[in-house]
Amino acid sequence: MLIIAHRGASGLAPENTLAAMEKALELGASAIELDVHRVEDQLVVIHDRWLQRHTDGHGLVHHSTLAALANLDAGQGQRVPTLWQVLECIDGRCDLNIELKGRNTNQPLIELLSQAQLQLGYQPQQFLISSFNHPKLMRLKQLQPDLKIGALTASCPLDYARFAEELGAYSVHIDVNFAEPEFIADAKRRGLKVFVYTVDEPEDMLELQRQGVDGVFSNLPDQARATLGSHTI
Ligand code: G3P
Ligand code: MG
Repeated sequence: MLIIAHRGASGLAPENTLAAMEKALELGASAIELDVHRVEDQLVVIHDRWLQRHTDGHGLVHHSTLAALANLDAGQGQRVPTLWQVLECIDGRCDLNIELKGRNTNQPLIELLSQAQLQLGYQPQQFLISSFNHPKLMRLKQLQPDLKIGALTASCPLDYARFAEELGAYSVHIDVNFAEPEFIADAKRRGLKVFVYTVDEPEDMLELQRQGVDGVFSNLPDQARATLGSHTI
């Protein structure tokens, strides 16, 4: 089972920062999830729409500027990195699940992925792009049909696996609270990978493994590896 370091190794370093990415790599992660919003013409790596939970700043992320963000403390002296800085830091050493939040992210994403392949040597299959915003995923898939897409849901919609299949998604990303065996079986029958978030409890990890899910997002990837087996991270 794939263990995806959620917001980097966010149980061990400030989430979505370069320190969290480095920690995940140090632990041998083969995949990292992170969240991006658009600021000016760039994507920046931060979870919330608002700055105050993650940083010493205030206000909406998309109203901020790159210059202002660069001066904020994102915890333990870390900065809010741009996606490009994270791509440079990871340098192709693991796969990346980029979760699109906020507005107008598709165009800068497409440009950045192409630049990452040309300048940093990433392979296209290293990227999995997910979002709770399904119209956005549909538009992205139209723009880049080969892109691996992960359809996120925080609830349990009827016919969700069918929708993801019709979207041409690679995977469905579901909340651990709704990881029902019937849903998992339906998604897998349709050829979709099933990834479950956020899973930090060993008991949940083992049950999901028994149910045949393909991966879990964990804030504690080292603990997940200890629980699930050494080769899986
Ligand atoms: O991508 C999995 C998970 O990160 C989705 O929810 O709110 O933690 O970004 P959230
Ligand atoms: Mg996320």
